[in-house]
Amino acid sequence: MANHFRTTERQGSDDTGRVLNVVPDANPQVSAADDAFAPAPVSTGQFDVIGADEPEAVHVVTASEPADPTEQPGFTSVFAPLASDDSPAVSRTGVPTISFKNVSLVYPAQPNKPALDGVSLDIYPGEFVFVVGHSGSGKSSLLRLITREQRATGGQIIVAGQDLGKMKNKKVPYLRRQIGTVYQDFKLLPDKTVYENVAFALECIGKPRSVVKAQVPEVLRLVGLGEKMDNFPDQLSGGEQQRVSVARAMVNRPPLLVCDEPTGNLDPAISLGIMKLLDRINRAGTTVVMATHDREMVDSMRKRVIALEAGHVVRDQEKGGYGYYGAL
Ligand SMILES: Nc1ncnc2c1ncn2[C@@H]1O[C@H](COP(=O)(O)OP(=O)(O)O)[C@@H](O)[C@H]1O
Ligand SMILES: [Mg+2]
Repeated sequence: MANHFRTTERQGSDDTGRVLNVVPDANPQVSAADDAFAPAPVSTGQFDVIGADEPEAVHVVTASEPADPTEQPGFTSVFAPLASDDSPAVSRTGVPTISFKNVSLVYPAQPNKPALDGVSLDIYPGEFVFVVGHSGSGKSSLLRLITREQRATGGQIIVAGQDLGKMKNKKVPYLRRQIGTVYQDFKLLPDKTVYENVAFALECIGKPRSVVKAQVPEVLRLVGLGEKMDNFPDQLSGGEQQRVSVARAMVNRPPLLVCDEPTGNLDPAISLGIMKLLDRINRAGTTVVMATHDREMVDSMRKRVIALEAGHVVRDQEKGGYGYYGAL
């Protein structure tokens, strides 16, 4: 598969004004209405007391028997609609978009405890990869290495054909233009409207006004916010705010999207809408790397899963699930 990264660093006015390769109506059931998806019936984990005079029938929940609703009979995941086997097959051959070779990261504050240790992985164009693991296992550190917010202290990282260890600081902004980022806390500018928040991302990289005016409304319609362009972030729900940050990440059509717990602040039904959006962006050809704690979502999606434990890759599985991690 072709490397989707643009080889030129010039961000001139030769833009066509097109946003993504997504046909807006290609998947009509995906819309702003996703946020309104009613959650599937979820067991509350509470047990009915059947006949108060029959104490043996009372099901006592003990510490050794956690009332995990996802393990109750009849539990249906809200993410079930996304679980399909028709995920486009990604040929993992050719030039990887991201390549880690024996990468380590030691923060000066914790010299004896590497945040990442001996991490090797290849992520190919068009893949959707979950990065899972306990809090503190190194997920955010791994993502920050991809965007060169951190530099590895050992090993080699190649992103879009460029060795990040050798990349000069002045070239880093060009790398970042090709990587959309989405965070748990949205990071929207509170005094700017939805439109202005997304436009700002293009203005910062010197896009002409004509491009901004064409691309911003299009990407906002794509994420289901065509009607809310003039709202301020505090007038939006959490799910809508996260849609704005996805729109901002995608407006420059980057070939790679890096998401750090993008659904971490959202309830399951709202997360489903965001997940559908990211899945759709991926199906349109964008490589997506997403760190998450959300076991249920990972189990339902059947995407590639890279599991970290104390800075080591302990599992790298195609169409994986979250796996057992105890209480997360
Ligand atoms: N800026 C930092 N300085 C020092 N230690 C850090 C820093 N960021 C993360 N760490 C440490 O690195 C390890 C991995 O953290 P992190 O990548 O944030 O994990 P996760 O995202 O999986 O929760 C943890 O031990 C954490 O305390
Ligand atoms: Mg983190």
